[in-house]
Amino acid sequence: MPKAEVSLKRDRNVSIKTLPPGPSGYLLFTMDRLQSQPLEYLGEMWHRYGDLVRLPVMPGLNIVLSTHPDHAEHILSTHADRYDKSDFFLNAMGAVQGAGLFTSEGEFWRSHRKLAQPAFHQAQLIKLHSVMLSCVQSLIREWEEKPEGEVIDIADEMTRLTLKIVSLTLFSVDISGESDQLRSALVTGIRYVYRRMTAPLSPPLWVPTHQNREFRQAKKTIDRIVLEIIRSRREQPTENVDLLSMLLAAKDEETGEGMSDRELLNEVITLINAGHETTATTLAWTWQLLGTHPEVMAQMQAEIDDVLQGGPPTFDKLPQLQYIRRVFDESLRLCPPGMSLAPRVAKEDDEIGGYRIPKGSILNIATYYTLRHPDFWQDPETFDPDRFLPERVAQRPKSVYMPWGGGPHICIGKNFAVMESMMILSAIAQRFQVKLVSQQPVEIDPRFTLRPKHGVKVTLNKRI
Ligand code: HEM
Repeated sequence: MPKAEVSLKRDRNVSIKTLPPGPSGYLLFTMDRLQSQPLEYLGEMWHRYGDLVRLPVMPGLNIVLSTHPDHAEHILSTHADRYDKSDFFLNAMGAVQGAGLFTSEGEFWRSHRKLAQPAFHQAQLIKLHSVMLSCVQSLIREWEEKPEGEVIDIADEMTRLTLKIVSLTLFSVDISGESDQLRSALVTGIRYVYRRMTAPLSPPLWVPTHQNREFRQAKKTIDRIVLEIIRSRREQPTENVDLLSMLLAAKDEETGEGMSDRELLNEVITLINAGHETTATTLAWTWQLLGTHPEVMAQMQAEIDDVLQGGPPTFDKLPQLQYIRRVFDESLRLCPPGMSLAPRVAKEDDEIGGYRIPKGSILNIATYYTLRHPDFWQDPETFDPDRFLPERVAQRPKSVYMPWGGGPHICIGKNFAVMESMMILSAIAQRFQVKLVSQQPVEIDPRFTLRPKHGVKVTLNKRI
C-alpha cells in the first residue's frame, strides 16, 4: 500500500482495524436455517467466532452479532448517538404500531418518552395495582371451579391474563375475550409484521395479496376501535385511573402541548403489544422452571405463607417477597422473552472491542446469549435464583444483566411488569400446587417472543 494512503487512513482514524470475524458465505443463502433455527445458528456463530461476529447478508451489507455486555453498553448507552434502530425494523413494526415509543427515534421519540415516562413511575403504578390484583383473583376463582387435576396450558392462561391486565390498566376495557375484535385484529397484525421481518423480499403492502389485504383490514379495525376509545375519553373524561388518562393529561413542560389522537393511538397499540406477550412468555417459563425445581417452588411458597399470612399480595407486601423477586429475575435471565433487541444501524464508522464497524452495519444485540455469557455467569444454564442475592449482584457489573435493554431506550414498562409478575406468581402459588404434566424439556418456538413451543401443561391442586 502506498505510504500516503496509510497515513491518510491513520489521520481519519478509520480502516486500520479489521472487521469482526465471521463466516464467508452470504446470509441470504443460509436464510432457511436462520429462520427455522435462529437460536442454534446464532449460538454456533458465537461459539465459533467470539463475542462480535460479522455475518455478511449480501455485498455491502453486514449484520454484526454482539453477545458481550460491554459491546451492548457501547451501542445502547455510552455511544448511543452513533446508532439508531434500523429503518427496516421501524417500517415493519411501524406498519401495525405507527410511530410509537418502540418504533421511533430522534426528537420525536425523546419528546414522547418524556411525556409517557411519568405514567410509569412507581407512584403512578400504585394506582393500577388493585386492577392487576383483581384480574389475578378473578382468574384464580375461574380455576377454582375446575375439577381437581384438570390439565390446563398455563402459557395460554398467562397470555389471556396479561392481555386482560394491560387492556384494563391501559384504557379500562377488557379485550382478552376469545371473540374480541380488537384482540383478533392485533394477532393478525403482529403475525403479519413477523412474516415481513423474516421474509424481507415479500411483496410491499400496496400489492393486493391475500395477506396484505387481510393485514390492511385488521389495521383498519385496530385504528377504528382504539380511536373511538380515545375520542370518547376526550369528549367525556371519566374517573378511571388508567394509563390512557395519564397519557391524555401529559403536556410538554415547554410548549404545553400534549399528544394528538393519532399519536395516542400509536402509543396505545405499542403498549398493548409490548406490554403483554413479553410478560406472559416470561411467566410461562417461570412456571416451567418452578415445575422442574420443586425445592424452589417450596421455598417460594414458604415465603408467601410467611409474608402474606393468607392475605392478598398487595403493593405494600411486594418488597418483602424477596425470594420471589430472585426467582423472577433468574427466570428472565435464563429465558428472556426475546432473543435480541431491536436491530440498530451504525450511523457512522465506529470501533467496538478493537474491531471496525463500518457505517450502515446492522447490530444484532443478542441478549439471549449475553445473559448466559460464561465470563459473567457461572454454570449459565443452571436455574439458580440465589445469583440475585444482593451480595452476589454487587459483585457483577450492572450492565451484565440486561433483559430490559439499556440506555435511553430501556424498557419503560419494567416496574409495571415486575409488579404484575410478582402479584401473579405469589397469588397463584399461594392458592395452588402447580405441577407439570411432563418433566420432558420444552422446546422453544423462536418466532417473535421465545415462547414454549407446545405451551406449558400443568395440573392445579388447591393448597388452602
Ligand atoms: C417481562 C416483561 C418485559 C420485558 C422483558 C421487556 C423488555 C424490553 C426490552 C428489552 C426493551 C428494549 C428494546 C430495545 O431497546 O430494542 C423494551 C422496550 C419497551 N418496553 Fe418492555 N419489556 C417487558 C414488559 C413491558 C411492559 C409491561 C410494557 C408496557 C406496559 C413495556 C413497554 C415497552 C416500551 C414502550 C418499550 C420501548 C421503550 C423506548 O424505546 O423508549 N414493556 N422492553
